[in-house]
Formats: sequence, structure tokens, C-alpha cells
Amino acid sequence: MLTWLVPQLWGSGVVAVHGTMFRPAELDGFIAERAGRLIGLLTYDIAGDMLEIVTLNAIERRVGIGTMLVDAAVSVARRSGCHQIRLTTTNDNVDALRFYQRRGFRLAELRPGAVDRSRRDKPEIPRTGDYGIPLRDEIDLMLLV
Ligand SMILES: CC(C)(COP(=O)(O)OP(=O)(O)OC[C@H]1O[C@@H](n2cnc3c(N)ncnc32)[C@H](O)[C@@H]1OP(=O)(O)O)[C@@H](O)C(=O)NCCC(=O)NCCS
Repeated sequence: MLTWLVPQLWGSGVVAVHGTMFRPAELDGFIAERAGRLIGLLTYDIAGDMLEIVTLNAIERRVGIGTMLVDAAVSVARRSGCHQIRLTTTNDNVDALRFYQRRGFRLAELRPGAVDRSRRDKPEIPRTGDYGIPLRDEIDLMLLV
């Protein structure tokens, strides 16, 4: 299922962040379902004591799906002995920046031009992102757990 869903949500089966290529369909994660219908998806990767949220999507917004999936990731991180959760978003994604900061995540790193560099290998990355904002930079957020 995820092999067709991830490209629909992210424009490709491969997600490029901080110079690493992830295939979300091959990662562990959580699916939120209601009445047999998929309404949310989170995928993650664990490396050392860090859990990285690679993708998070709420198909229906502002009904609590994103919060539920992040809470599930926090539980996995704690159970797995991870001390931090990291994720990368982009400069245009002000909804995600708001969402994560409201849930305790802190801005951790800014990589100016990182999306422009990824676009050289992955030309399908759009030039314009949410709210018509030029899509250029990566921003990492971190939560200590
Ligand atoms: C970022 C994203 C995952 C947030 O998911 P979401 O399911 O909309 O988030 P939630 O519904 O849990 O919370 C959003 C807000 O809705 C509110 N909310 C939740 N249920 C609600 C309800 N029943 N009635 C009214 N408001 C509600 C929450 O309180 C929250 O507001 P707050 O941040 O001020 O507390 C979602 O916007 C998304 O999928 N974006 C596209 C993909 C993306 O950018 N992913 C992140 C980058 S990895």
C-alpha cells in the first residue's frame, strides 16, 4: 500500500533529507485508520539514540491525527532507549513548523539552499512550496524525550 501512497503524498517514493535518501515505504511507522480508511501516516528511522520522523501526513487536518501519530513516535522512542526525536522540514512548511513547536519541538538547524541542492538530483521537487513560498531550505526540529 505505501509504495503507491508515499509518492502520492510526497511526489516520489524517495525522500531526501540532510543529504540522506529514505524510502518511507520500507521504514517502520504508524498508520491511522478510521472505518477502514487510511487517514494518517508516520514513518521513522532509528539510528543510535535518535528517532528520526521521516514522513508525517494527516490526510484530514486539524482533527488530532498528527498529534496522535507524534505521540506514538514518542512512545517508540522511549521504549527504544532513544533520547531525541529529529525531523527535517522545509522553509515553506509553516504549518508543520507551527505544529511541531506547539508540541515541544525546538528549532535545531537551518540548512540554507539544501532543497535547491536536492533538486539537482531530484528535479521533480517543486520550486514553489506552501503559500507560494519559494522552496529552498531545510530546517531540523528536535525534541528531547
Ligand atoms: C503537520 C500536520 C501533520 C499536522 O497534522 P494535524 O493532524 O492537522 O494535526 P492535529 O490535528 O493533531 O493538530 C493541529 C491543530 O488542530 C487542533 N485540533 C485537533 N483536533 C481538533 C478538533 N477536533 N477540533 C478543533 N481543533 C482540533 C489541535 O489542537 C492543533 O492545534 P494546536 O497546534 O494549536 O494545538 C499536517 O498539517 C500535515 O499532514 N501536513 C502536510 C504534511 C507535512 O507537512 N508533514 C510534516 C513534515 S514531516
